[in-house]
Amino acid sequence: MRLTLTQLRKLKQTGEKITCLTAYDASFAYLVEQAGVEIILVGDSLGMVVQGQDSTLPVTVEHIVYHTQLVQRRTTRAFLIADMPFMSYATPDIALQNAAKLMREGQAQMVKLEGGQWLIEIIQLLVERGIPVCGHLGLTPQSVHQLGGYRIQGRTETEARRLLKEAQELQQAGASLLVLECVPSELAAQISKELTIPTIGIGAGAACDGQVLVLYDMLGIHLGKSPSFVKNFLADTGSIQGALQAYVEAVKNGQFPGATHSYR
Ligand code: KIV
Repeated sequence: MRLTLTQLRKLKQTGEKITCLTAYDASFAYLVEQAGVEIILVGDSLGMVVQGQDSTLPVTVEHIVYHTQLVQRRTTRAFLIADMPFMSYATPDIALQNAAKLMREGQAQMVKLEGGQWLIEIIQLLVERGIPVCGHLGLTPQSVHQLGGYRIQGRTETEARRLLKEAQELQQAGASLLVLECVPSELAAQISKELTIPTIGIGAGAACDGQVLVLYDMLGIHLGKSPSFVKNFLADTGSIQGALQAYVEAVKNGQFPGATHSYR
């Protein structure tokens, strides 16, 4: 039986940290689940780490469906989130069609969308139709060209206020989880405190309700420069299973992310 949103919510309420990793295929997904990771995200990061693209923009709904099927096939317990790729939720109608495909064909339990205020109507529609939604704020890689690169977000007071407001609006619209990427730890802590839904941080400090990393990054496999918030868990452990277990332990006991893997 797979974990449910109710169980994930309970982890926030009891203060137990939630662990999340990306996976894109059956074998790695199996190992990730065996290590006790609660959430597996089939991220559009697969465009970069699996396909070797320069960004996540070329990823299609068909790619995510295919990889979600692979991950689903060899897991039974992890909560399964599928990313909605670039332009697959540009309008409410398109979003509904594509989210339904990810849930029906990929057997995802939830879809993840990047963006703030403009997503409200789309989130309301998906949630009304029975599709759980994870929001994604801060550095939203599908907007890399708009943002002018992969850089920390929310450092000015105006930006921080906007992010906090958008986080509240996404929750109000019906989002059940929120990924916060590359934002100062203090801001992520404030958002996590003010929201009732769990926040999952990546480069967002230790106060988030959970943590996510790209699987390849935390195993030290990268084609270019690794972001500074990433820790290579394989380096100290010597086996993939050891690295995954070390990640789960470090997130659960609050040791990861430390100050060197967070932003001020
Ligand atoms: O695509 C992805 O892997 C993601 C995570 C980095 C949160 O969105």
